[in-house]
Amino acid sequence: MPSSDYQAKSAYRGDVAVRYDQDRKTEPLWEIEQAFVADLITRLPAGATVMDIPAGTGRFVGMLLAQGVSVQALDISADMLAELRRQYPTETRLQVAVGDAERLEAADSSIDCIISWRFFHLLPLATIDRVLGEFRRVCRGRMIIQVLPARTGGLATRLPSAVKAVLRPVRRFLRPAAKTPWSHIPSFIHAERDLLRLFARHRLKVADAATLATYQGLPVRVYTLERDGA
Ligand SMILES: C[S@@+](CC[C@H](N)C(=O)[O-])C[C@H]1O[C@@H](n2cnc3c(N)ncnc32)[C@H](O)[C@@H]1O
Repeated sequence: MPSSDYQAKSAYRGDVAVRYDQDRKTEPLWEIEQAFVADLITRLPAGATVMDIPAGTGRFVGMLLAQGVSVQALDISADMLAELRRQYPTETRLQVAVGDAERLEAADSSIDCIISWRFFHLLPLATIDRVLGEFRRVCRGRMIIQVLPARTGGLATRLPSAVKAVLRPVRRFLRPAAKTPWSHIPSFIHAERDLLRLFARHRLKVADAATLATYQGLPVRVYTLERDGA
């Protein structure tokens, strides 16, 4: 199956990777997310296999290892993973590998939990569709997916995609997003309705949904998904 192209797939290289943590750690949202995931991880049984995808520079790896689980840290960017590897050069419960979320090498039902953070907002819906198919295939337990940000309502979310694409530059002109070191990496604002439709299409039921914070005026959502049926 061909994999898709979108800018974030090749954007996290070189200096972007080297500066990734320092550019983001100063934002209050970073700490809110760390605390949320730290709490969630305490519910994982020691010995579980957790896939962190995209793992990026490994912000959750230390807390996962401290919980006694095995970690598969995957990312499409070798440069992001180099930052991760530097911090855990000899950890035997950690596997670090370049991997594409659209085409995972893991065997069916081989993973107990997937953590996918700050990812779906970088992907077009057609790519999310493929990624969810892979998550469902490899994960027998819970999939924790953060979406930054997702809209939960409003007229704009009900417009057809083609109209939204035409309106996007107008909206950006009228309401420019705050300038950040990552403003050059395009992202998508997905309607919650569209995400829920994709979850259902892959027979993934929402076991829990939380709003962590607002970011640039929009809710930061975390969905806990489980397979619905075999
Ligand atoms: C905003 S970073 C998030 C990293 C980490 N989860 C975090 O919260 O800091 C997005 C990451 O997605 C990775 N990425 C983009 N497309 C990918 C794909 N198809 N498969 C795996 N990783 C991908 C990028 O290389 C980048 O490291």
